[in-house]
Amino acid sequence: MSKPSDQPSLRWDGDAIVTLDQRALPHERRLLRLDTVDRVIDAISTLAVRGAPSIGLAGALGVALSAYTHCPSGTDARGREAVRADARRIAAARPTAVNLAWAVDRVVGRLSDGPDAVLAEATAMIEEDRTVNRRMVEHAARAVLDRCPQRSLRLLTHCNTGRLATAAVGTALGTILALAEAGRVTEVLVDETRPLMQGARLTAWELAEAGVPHRVCVDSAAAAAMSRGLVDCVLVGADRITASGDVANKIGTYGLAIAAAHHAIPFIVVAPESTWDRSLTDGGSIVIEERDADEVTSYGGVRTTPPHTRAYNPAFDVTPASLITAIVSEHGVHHTSEVST
Ligand code: MRU
Repeated sequence: MSKPSDQPSLRWDGDAIVTLDQRALPHERRLLRLDTVDRVIDAISTLAVRGAPSIGLAGALGVALSAYTHCPSGTDARGREAVRADARRIAAARPTAVNLAWAVDRVVGRLSDGPDAVLAEATAMIEEDRTVNRRMVEHAARAVLDRCPQRSLRLLTHCNTGRLATAAVGTALGTILALAEAGRVTEVLVDETRPLMQGARLTAWELAEAGVPHRVCVDSAAAAAMSRGLVDCVLVGADRITASGDVANKIGTYGLAIAAAHHAIPFIVVAPESTWDRSLTDGGSIVIEERDADEVTSYGGVRTTPPHTRAYNPAFDVTPASLITAIVSEHGVHHTSEVST
């Protein structure tokens, strides 16, 4: 029987993208069938599909949907322009993770060869992501063990970077699962990841599925856990990494990195090469997605603030390279700044 991680989080099924609706987890395993570009955009912007590599793959398949609709021959100039317009809309669905624009651009490059070529490129990217995941996890597990040689590790992670966020085992969470499989993990502390609870809902679900011991904590408990010696290493993913090694990731990552540096705890970022954006010199120029205030002013559909309270709701923040112990990709360790160890 195949392990859950052997099944890609999304696939092409004849004339549509099929994926798990991450909004319904952990309570319901609901499959979504995305058969129009508008549905793909809605799924990406409402986080039914989420995580940098996954939204890239969904976006690429979305361009294939558009190509079959508007440009079946691949040669019609007006049809090609319609696909390019759809591609721009898809790429704009979430601005921070560079994987989305990168993947969309890559498949648009095959448009003149027709929709089958666009689809072949998108499905090849799913296979590539699986290989990339495997290599990245090997390098990242070694990077953790080099810095934390003790037998049994207490790890802390933020957001969800597992199989739901990629086409295979994941990035930071894939590394944690590999270390657990090697018998090196005592416990994983999972930040719940306000406001959309990707840690509590999705990472806890993946860890439970894999039988890895874990506890969920409120985001603001992470620094206290570090001060009490409950964390040997922090592992997170990334949405965009600049030429200087500054990292955009889920809101709260920057605070974690500051706390980890203060406690001399290794802070390791695990992300594929496709998350690097070397056109940006530093993190100040990364566009940070700001999401609807309702995500902060209510919880589970119930308002938690007075009626007219406004909210500041950035979905991501930027951690400067100086706070990051190592950034690991499928090619190995890219950047190290051992400031915190
Ligand atoms: O808003 P989300 O849930 O898409 O944010 C996801 C993250 O911040 C992840 O850490 C990142 O995309 C890496 S996923 C391997």
